[in-house]
Amino acid sequence: MNCQKWSFRMALLLFSVAISLGLSRLVASESLEFPSNYEQDFVHYASVTCPNSRIVRQMYANPIAMNAARENNPLPNGSVIVMETHSAVADANGRLTPSHLNNVFIREKQSGFGQEHSENLRNGNWKYAWFSPTGNLVSNRESSCLSCHTRVSDRDYVFTLPDLVTAAQTNQLQSRPTKFGLSVCN
Ligand code: HEC
Repeated sequence: MNCQKWSFRMALLLFSVAISLGLSRLVASESLEFPSNYEQDFVHYASVTCPNSRIVRQMYANPIAMNAARENNPLPNGSVIVMETHSAVADANGRLTPSHLNNVFIREKQSGFGQEHSENLRNGNWKYAWFSPTGNLVSNRESSCLSCHTRVSDRDYVFTLPDLVTAAQTNQLQSRPTKFGLSVCN
């Protein structure tokens, strides 16, 4: 191979490496898709109240996550969990009833997700995004989601994993006040 041909091929190779690196970064920073069907197709497995700030959080999991939890298996790639946050009104006994849906938080596990994050921030293969109730992206800046959810790295970064497993195995919605204090109830 003459020198000119060689440098042309080298340039081509470098160019394609640059393109694929660029593309993988683009994919990594792309937001999750809003699962517009979640109210019909997902299971409402937990309802967690924040009594002091009058917020109710409703959690839904897709069939892939529910099926794994039913069998006591780890949540596989393809698992999607939705958390709605509602303002709520309290009755005379302090029981909260959701009155207005404010936000929809999503997390999804897929092979290759999360690899752009440093080891101490990464939540395995989970990715996060925050949407409005109508499915518009509010933010896909994940750093705060990741850093708070690392507190439960021992349960695959899912705070409500025990509720998900119990709900999957008993077909009962799990309802309780938050166990994690006010910092996550604003
Ligand atoms: C300050 C801590 C904190 C931050 C920041 C946070 N979360 Fe969470 N998240 C929680 C807690 C705690 C729960 C469980 C609810 C409860 O018990 O109050 C939860 C639950 C969830 C759930 C339901 C599944 C699960 O893990 O239990 C989803 C989905 C979720 N969060 C998404 C997000 C997204 C998306 C972001 C970033 C935009 C985010 N969270 C930021 C603390 C946090």
